[in-house]
Amino acid sequence: MIAFALLVVAYLLGSLSGSLLLGRLRGVDIRTQGSGNAGGTNALRTQGWKFALGTVLVDVGKGVLAAWLALRFGGGEPWLPWAAGFAAVLGHVWPVFHGFRGGKGAGTLVGVLLVLWPLGLAVLIGTWLLVLGLGGYVGLSTILAAASLVPLALLTGADPWRLGFAGVLAVFILFTHRSNVARLRAGTEPRFERARFLVP
Ligand code: G3P
Repeated sequence: MIAFALLVVAYLLGSLSGSLLLGRLRGVDIRTQGSGNAGGTNALRTQGWKFALGTVLVDVGKGVLAAWLALRFGGGEPWLPWAAGFAAVLGHVWPVFHGFRGGKGAGTLVGVLLVLWPLGLAVLIGTWLLVLGLGGYVGLSTILAAASLVPLALLTGADPWRLGFAGVLAVFILFTHRSNVARLRAGTEPRFERARFLVP
């Protein structure tokens, strides 16, 4: 029962979308702008760095909270924090508070990893920065960064839950980024613009 409650709480936390909540305060819905994604990258692209920073803090923070709650109150069930982390990501992608149209889950995944797998987070961020530096595409960087968790789990002899989480998230992040894949194939995916950091 407590496990079910923690999963529901994780999903509800995940449903609190940083960009959409901040957007309500500003009177904008970033799902109608830029890439249409309710996430940090599109917040930066369309609203500037302060809005993007707020978005990332909320989206990472809810992942932290969902995973921590499951870890703290889950009675030591080894699968539960991972399942709660995934539930938070699901909430971010299909948020009950925002018409089930949310983001792609990367920020929330970062928060979950911060609590449950700091090494995974370090490898994910390293991969993300490397691919972004080489190619300049945020979406591609996020896809490959999430995928990097699988070889990391295998190389470090991770337990089945950690390995399962890595595999599920690698596939799921690829799924949520399918529009980026389509744009990459069509040659229309925009490159990251450093100049956007200068917009207040
Ligand atoms: O986490 C989202 C990012 O990887 C891609 O965002 O707006 O370029 O689709 P966007």
